[in-house]
Amino acid sequence: MFITFEGLDFCGKSTQVQLLEKYLLQRGKKVEIIREPGGTPISEKIRDILLDKKNSEMSIETELILFSGSRSQLVSQVILPALKENVFVISDRFHDSSIAYQSFGRKIPLNFVEELQKFVIKEAVPDITFFLDIPIDEVIKRKSKVKQIELDRIELSQIDFYERVRKGYLYLAEKEKRFRTISGLNSIPEIHAIIIEEIKKIESSRM
Ligand code: TYD
Repeated sequence: MFITFEGLDFCGKSTQVQLLEKYLLQRGKKVEIIREPGGTPISEKIRDILLDKKNSEMSIETELILFSGSRSQLVSQVILPALKENVFVISDRFHDSSIAYQSFGRKIPLNFVEELQKFVIKEAVPDITFFLDIPIDEVIKRKSKVKQIELDRIELSQIDFYERVRKGYLYLAEKEKRFRTISGLNSIPEIHAIIIEEIKKIESSRM
């Protein structure tokens, strides 16, 4: 099963990825955790370029292509081989992030970004995508608790950018059957419980 997590920065995805990993491991499953951008030696190098604050002059085209390049490497080197071995693959962000951030956020035409993502992910289409939705004022609140120096290039973005990214996720949630929207304002255990229920539903539908 291929599971992805999506949402705005600071929505709490990474905590939920860890909790889900623990749950699956306890049930004797094989699990491969991935973070995007990154996950292979080539992709990690691309990650460093993408998130480095010194690269403030990066064009939006370069940004889209680098995220997509990093992902392409991950798909062929890690995701597809793992899925063939019946491993649970959990990715902290995947191609939907490019649709939300690079298309809606950076205003690159949607059909181009969507086509590029199809080209990049091939048959690695997630079975389920958990979208942890938080309002923009919550992003601001959580961001203010992080030291400025610890924010990456994209986390330094302005409010209107995040507003557009969220619209992108809402568009995807409406369009894609695999999307499950969960309010990121729920407590950590509440969100985890919802996620487990959804995973169980898919498992039982396949038995
Ligand atoms: P990361 O530190 O992984 O953030 P988080 O823990 O919030 O997921 O940094 C990833 C940043 O890159 C994040 O701000 C979202 C952005 N991003 C894109 O703009 N497009 C993409 O395709 C991906 C995967 C991430």
